[in-house]
Amino acid sequence: MALRKILLHPDPRLKKKCEPVTQVDDETRILMQDMLETMYDAPGIGLAASQIGVMKRVLVMDIVKDEDGEPEPYLMANPEITWASEELSTYEEGCLSIPEEFADVKRPERVKVSYLDENGIPQELDCDGLLATCVQHEIDHLDGKLFIDYLGPVKRSMITGRMKKRKKERAGT
Ligand code: NI
Repeated sequence: MALRKILLHPDPRLKKKCEPVTQVDDETRILMQDMLETMYDAPGIGLAASQIGVMKRVLVMDIVKDEDGEPEPYLMANPEITWASEELSTYEEGCLSIPEEFADVKRPERVKVSYLDENGIPQELDCDGLLATCVQHEIDHLDGKLFIDYLGPVKRSMITGRMKKRKKERAGT
Protein backbone atom coordinates (compact mmCIF):
# COMPACT_ATOMS: atom_id res chain seq x y z
CA MET A 1 0.00 0.00 0.00
CA ALA A 2 1.09 3.53 -0.62
CA LEU A 3 0.10 6.98 0.54
CA ARG A 4 -1.14 9.15 -2.31
CA LYS A 5 -1.00 12.92 -2.51
CA ILE A 6 -4.34 14.61 -1.83
CA LEU A 7 -5.16 17.38 -4.31
CA LEU A 8 -6.09 20.74 -2.85
CA HIS A 9 -8.82 23.07 -4.07
CA PRO A 10 -8.67 24.84 -6.47
CA ASP A 11 -7.61 22.13 -8.91
CA PRO A 12 -9.32 21.43 -12.26
CA ARG A 13 -9.34 17.68 -11.54
CA LEU A 14 -11.62 18.26 -8.53
CA LYS A 15 -14.21 19.81 -10.87
CA LYS A 16 -14.34 16.89 -13.34
CA LYS A 17 -16.79 14.01 -13.54
CA CYS A 18 -15.19 10.60 -12.92
CA GLU A 19 -15.60 7.60 -15.23
CA PRO A 20 -17.36 4.40 -14.08
CA VAL A 21 -15.17 1.42 -13.21
CA THR A 22 -15.67 -1.25 -15.88
CA GLN A 23 -14.33 -4.07 -13.76
CA VAL A 24 -13.30 -4.28 -10.12
CA ASP A 25 -9.90 -5.85 -10.64
CA ASP A 26 -6.59 -5.91 -8.75
CA GLU A 27 -5.78 -2.41 -9.95
CA THR A 28 -9.08 -1.16 -8.47
CA ARG A 29 -8.41 -3.00 -5.21
CA ILE A 30 -4.93 -1.48 -4.91
CA LEU A 31 -6.45 1.94 -5.58
CA MET A 32 -9.05 1.34 -2.84
CA GLN A 33 -6.43 0.23 -0.32
CA ASP A 34 -4.17 3.18 -1.12
CA MET A 35 -7.10 5.53 -0.75
CA LEU A 36 -8.06 3.99 2.59
CA GLU A 37 -4.51 4.31 3.90
CA THR A 38 -4.30 7.91 2.64
CA MET A 39 -7.65 8.73 4.29
CA TYR A 40 -6.68 7.23 7.67
CA ASP A 41 -3.32 8.99 7.52
CA ALA A 42 -4.85 12.42 6.81
CA PRO A 43 -6.97 11.72 8.95
CA GLY A 44 -10.39 11.87 7.36
CA ILE A 45 -13.67 9.93 7.20
CA GLY A 46 -14.07 9.79 3.42
CA LEU A 47 -12.02 10.09 0.24
CA ALA A 48 -12.94 10.05 -3.44
CA ALA A 49 -10.54 8.89 -6.17
CA SER A 50 -10.57 12.28 -7.91
CA GLN A 51 -9.04 13.75 -4.74
CA ILE A 52 -5.86 11.82 -5.51
CA GLY A 53 -6.12 12.61 -9.22
CA VAL A 54 -7.57 9.25 -10.31
CA MET A 55 -10.67 9.99 -12.39
CA LYS A 56 -12.60 6.83 -11.53
CA ARG A 57 -15.86 6.37 -9.65
CA VAL A 58 -14.29 4.94 -6.50
CA LEU A 59 -14.65 6.12 -2.91
CA VAL A 60 -13.71 4.97 0.57
CA MET A 61 -15.25 5.86 3.94
CA ASP A 62 -14.92 5.02 7.60
CA ILE A 63 -16.88 7.18 9.99
CA VAL A 64 -15.67 5.48 13.19
CA LYS A 65 -14.11 8.34 15.10
CA ASP A 66 -12.98 6.45 18.19
CA GLU A 67 -9.28 5.77 17.74
CA ASP A 68 -9.52 2.58 19.78
CA GLY A 69 -12.61 1.41 17.92
CA GLU A 70 -12.56 -1.30 15.28
CA PRO A 71 -12.23 0.16 11.79
CA GLU A 72 -15.38 -0.07 9.67
CA PRO A 73 -14.22 0.73 6.16
CA TYR A 74 -16.54 0.96 3.16
CA LEU A 75 -14.92 0.51 -0.25
CA MET A 76 -17.18 1.44 -3.16
CA ALA A 77 -16.98 1.39 -6.93
CA ASN A 78 -19.69 3.05 -9.04
CA PRO A 79 -21.77 4.18 -6.04
CA GLU A 80 -25.22 5.52 -6.84
CA ILE A 81 -27.93 7.03 -4.69
CA THR A 82 -31.06 5.00 -5.40
CA TRP A 83 -33.29 6.72 -2.84
CA ALA A 84 -33.16 9.85 -0.71
CA SER A 85 -35.44 10.92 2.15
CA GLU A 86 -37.47 14.09 1.88
CA GLU A 87 -36.31 15.08 5.34
CA LEU A 88 -33.11 17.06 5.29
CA SER A 89 -30.44 17.44 7.91
CA THR A 90 -27.62 19.90 8.35
CA TYR A 91 -24.05 18.94 9.11
CA GLU A 92 -20.95 21.07 9.41
CA GLU A 93 -18.85 19.61 6.59
CA GLY A 94 -15.17 19.72 5.86
CA CYS A 95 -13.04 18.17 3.12
CA LEU A 96 -9.47 16.86 2.89
CA SER A 97 -9.10 18.90 -0.33
CA ILE A 98 -10.25 22.08 1.46
CA PRO A 99 -8.42 21.82 4.81
CA GLU A 100 -9.25 24.13 7.71
CA GLU A 101 -12.58 25.18 6.16
CA PHE A 102 -15.96 24.09 7.48
CA ALA A 103 -19.52 25.05 6.62
CA ASP A 104 -23.08 23.88 7.23
CA VAL A 105 -24.55 21.91 4.33
CA LYS A 106 -28.13 20.67 4.12
CA ARG A 107 -28.69 17.25 2.52
CA PRO A 108 -31.22 14.40 2.63
CA GLU A 109 -31.12 12.87 6.10
CA ARG A 110 -31.19 9.27 4.82
CA VAL A 111 -30.14 7.68 1.52
CA LYS A 112 -29.87 4.24 -0.04
CA VAL A 113 -26.72 3.62 -2.04
CA SER A 114 -25.97 0.82 -4.48
CA TYR A 115 -22.36 0.05 -5.35
CA LEU A 116 -19.84 -2.66 -6.18
CA ASP A 117 -17.67 -3.78 -3.29
CA GLU A 118 -13.95 -4.62 -3.50
CA ASN A 119 -14.85 -8.04 -4.93
CA GLY A 120 -17.10 -6.56 -7.61
CA ILE A 121 -20.22 -7.81 -5.83
CA PRO A 122 -23.28 -5.51 -5.98
CA GLN A 123 -24.26 -4.19 -2.55
CA GLU A 124 -26.89 -1.89 -1.15
CA LEU A 125 -26.40 0.25 1.93
CA ASP A 126 -28.90 2.20 4.02
CA CYS A 127 -27.23 5.32 5.33
CA ASP A 128 -28.31 7.82 7.95
CA GLY A 129 -26.67 10.40 10.16
CA LEU A 130 -23.02 11.09 9.46
CA LEU A 131 -22.73 8.14 7.06
CA ALA A 132 -25.51 9.61 4.87
CA THR A 133 -23.79 13.00 4.82
CA CYS A 134 -20.41 11.44 4.10
CA VAL A 135 -21.54 9.20 1.23
CA GLN A 136 -23.37 12.10 -0.46
CA HIS A 137 -20.32 14.35 -0.06
CA GLU A 138 -18.05 11.68 -1.61
CA ILE A 139 -20.41 10.86 -4.50
CA ASP A 140 -20.54 14.61 -5.20
CA HIS A 141 -16.75 14.51 -5.60
CA LEU A 142 -17.15 11.85 -8.31
CA ASP A 143 -19.41 14.32 -10.14
CA GLY A 144 -16.93 17.18 -9.76
CA LYS A 145 -18.90 18.87 -7.00
CA LEU A 146 -17.48 20.21 -3.73
CA PHE A 147 -19.32 21.04 -0.50
CA ILE A 148 -18.51 24.72 -1.01
CA ASP A 149 -20.64 24.61 -4.18
CA TYR A 150 -23.65 24.54 -1.83
CA LEU A 151 -22.64 27.86 -0.29
CA GLY A 152 -23.37 31.35 -1.52
CA PRO A 153 -20.94 32.90 -4.03
CA VAL A 154 -19.42 35.31 -1.49
CA LYS A 155 -18.64 32.63 1.09
CA ARG A 156 -17.35 30.30 -1.62
CA SER A 157 -14.98 32.83 -3.14
CA MET A 158 -13.67 33.75 0.33
CA ILE A 159 -12.82 30.09 0.99
CA THR A 160 -11.26 29.71 -2.47
CA GLY A 161 -9.17 32.83 -1.84
CA ARG A 162 -7.87 31.45 1.46
CA MET A 163 -7.16 28.09 -0.18
CA LYS A 164 -5.10 29.70 -2.97
CA LYS A 165 -3.00 31.39 -0.30
CA ARG A 166 -2.62 28.15 1.65
CA LYS A 167 -1.60 26.23 -1.46
CA LYS A 168 1.13 28.79 -2.16
CA GLU A 169 2.39 28.51 1.41
CA ARG A 170 2.44 24.72 1.24
CA ALA A 171 4.30 24.81 -2.06
CA GLY A 172 7.10 26.38 -0.05
CA THR A 173 7.49 29.86 -1.44
NI1 NI B 1 -14.36 16.06 0.36
